[in-house]
Amino acid sequence: MAQKHIFIALTGASGSMYGLRLTEQLCLNDFQVTFTASCSGTAVCREETGLDLSGDLDKALQRLYAHLEINSGITLVHPDDLFCGAASGSSAPDAMVICPCSMGTLARVAGGVSGNLIERSADVMLKERRPLLLVPRETPLSDIHLENMLRRCPHSTAGRIQFWTWLILSSGKYWISSGSRTTSTSGGVRNNPEPANSDAKKTIFY
Ligand SMILES: Cc1cc2nc3c(=O)[nH]c(=O)nc-3n(C[C@H](O)[C@H](O)[C@H](O)COP(=O)(O)O)c2cc1C
Repeated sequence: MAQKHIFIALTGASGSMYGLRLTEQLCLNDFQVTFTASCSGTAVCREETGLDLSGDLDKALQRLYAHLEINSGITLVHPDDLFCGAASGSSAPDAMVICPCSMGTLARVAGGVSGNLIERSADVMLKERRPLLLVPRETPLSDIHLENMLRRCPHSTAGRIQFWTWLILSSGKYWISSGSRTTSTSGGVRNNPEPANSDAKKTIFY
């Protein structure tokens, strides 16, 4: 089966470790991962984890590998690189996750503002009807935040967001599979068909 391609974007909300852990788990499960971080995402990530993703992309990638417990599998792209494949419907990834997602990025995605690679790729995922998952974080939430969540982001309902947040934080082991999207209506995850000789506890469908 062809490797599934997931685009992960880290933006300037608290909780950068969620995005990093998701990246690590996808790489460990043989997904093809493209990773980017907004300017604010980079700054908050450095503040929260000590990981510096700014500057030269190759050096940032080495620091990312050193921080995560993996040694290959990530393509790091600049958040303004609109020539990246993820910015085009003809080469869109299989799924995109913005984790964590700032209220600013959420608003711009909901408003269709394709001002950088993250926003443009999210726009592409929506128009191509591919899975787009936002993991927003803010507290308290204003009515503007809530309206933006409901506007045009069908995959960012509160239930799914919390489910994924729990999933990423959990220390359990997961078997990630390319199940049909139509089977994922119960929130993207369902209990096993447990694979033989595996200690996996859940199957993640997307
Ligand atoms: C330390 C720190 C923590 C922040 N936490 C949040 C947060 O949890 N949620 C949020 O929406 N914005 C948060 N912000 C503000 C965003 O980083 C800011 O609105 C930024 O412009 C978002 O840019 P981006 O969407 O391009 O990443 C935080 C900023 C800093 C410096």
